[in-house]
Amino acid sequence: MDTPWTHTTVLLEEAVDALQATGSRDTFVDATFGRGGHSRAILDRLAPEGRLIAYDKDAEAVAEAARIEDARFSIRHQGFKHLGELAPASVGGLLMDLGISSPQIDNPARGFSFRFDGPLDMRMDTSRGESVAEWLATAEPQQIAEVIRDYGEERFAVQIAKAIAARRQERGPVSTTAELAELVAGAVKTREPGQNPATRTFQALRIFINAELEELQQALEASLSVLKPQGRLAVISFHSLEDRIVKQFIAKHSREVFDRRAPFAQAPEMKLRSIGRIKPSEAEVQANPRARSAILRVAERTGAPA
Ligand SMILES: C[S@@+](CC[C@H](N)C(=O)[O-])C[C@H]1O[C@@H](n2cnc3c(N)ncnc32)[C@H](O)[C@@H]1O
Repeated sequence: MDTPWTHTTVLLEEAVDALQATGSRDTFVDATFGRGGHSRAILDRLAPEGRLIAYDKDAEAVAEAARIEDARFSIRHQGFKHLGELAPASVGGLLMDLGISSPQIDNPARGFSFRFDGPLDMRMDTSRGESVAEWLATAEPQQIAEVIRDYGEERFAVQIAKAIAARRQERGPVSTTAELAELVAGAVKTREPGQNPATRTFQALRIFINAELEELQQALEASLSVLKPQGRLAVISFHSLEDRIVKQFIAKHSREVFDRRAPFAQAPEMKLRSIGRIKPSEAEVQANPRARSAILRVAERTGAPA
């Protein structure tokens, strides 16, 4: 179970097994350090000559990484879209554990959760970019509605956007999580059982303000150049928008997609081999309800080792 400032790593053994790091002298990448649960397990398995490069956009995660005293380990305070800057075919295994960590969501000051009142921020990297409050203060209602509809799959997106714009006119922009949650609750007409009415809107704004889906796509494309032949790609996603991107990316590059419009066209070069899809066990979900929606997808870079 998480305590307020810890993160219970999801699919720990499964993801690290998938990377095949045991005894390896290769360079591995943990693209989402968080609190380092996966990183520490990878380091436990790597050979003394192996290396682990981690990334995280969040300064608090990077500060936590400083506690790892291991010459094989380094961390970059960067988005994982920068993965493509690594040397081509230099990485033996790449892990992405998407989304936010428990310390981020449980800290009211970060503004990720409707469960606590705090400034409406939601940036993973607070050193750059606009907060959600800043964006909502000037965005067109139509843009707001599109974001909430497309990234939250929210039926009442137009009504929510109108409520945000009306409040802006009457009393100034929304600036806290509690204000936004209250506005959304007033605009959402039918409740989903067991779900807070603000769930979809908060998810949508978080995905948008952090450019999560664009950066995921960029990192997946970059993985094709940085992974060595037989290097493993392991991605854990937590909602269907992310998982769809990962699934389609692996399918496209492992030629699982048959193009019915061009059945005799030369097939594109196969760059990945799909290894499989793993979900958390019942026991893991019982112990950590945040694991409930996790899906791990694994693929291997094709080609003969050098
Ligand atoms: C689910 S947590 C990872 C938890 C980690 N595997 C552990 O066991 O402690 C996701 C982390 O990835 C970071 N993150 C999310 N998207 C990122 C991106 N595009 N670039 C870099 N870091 C990102 C978040 O700041 C967060 O710390």
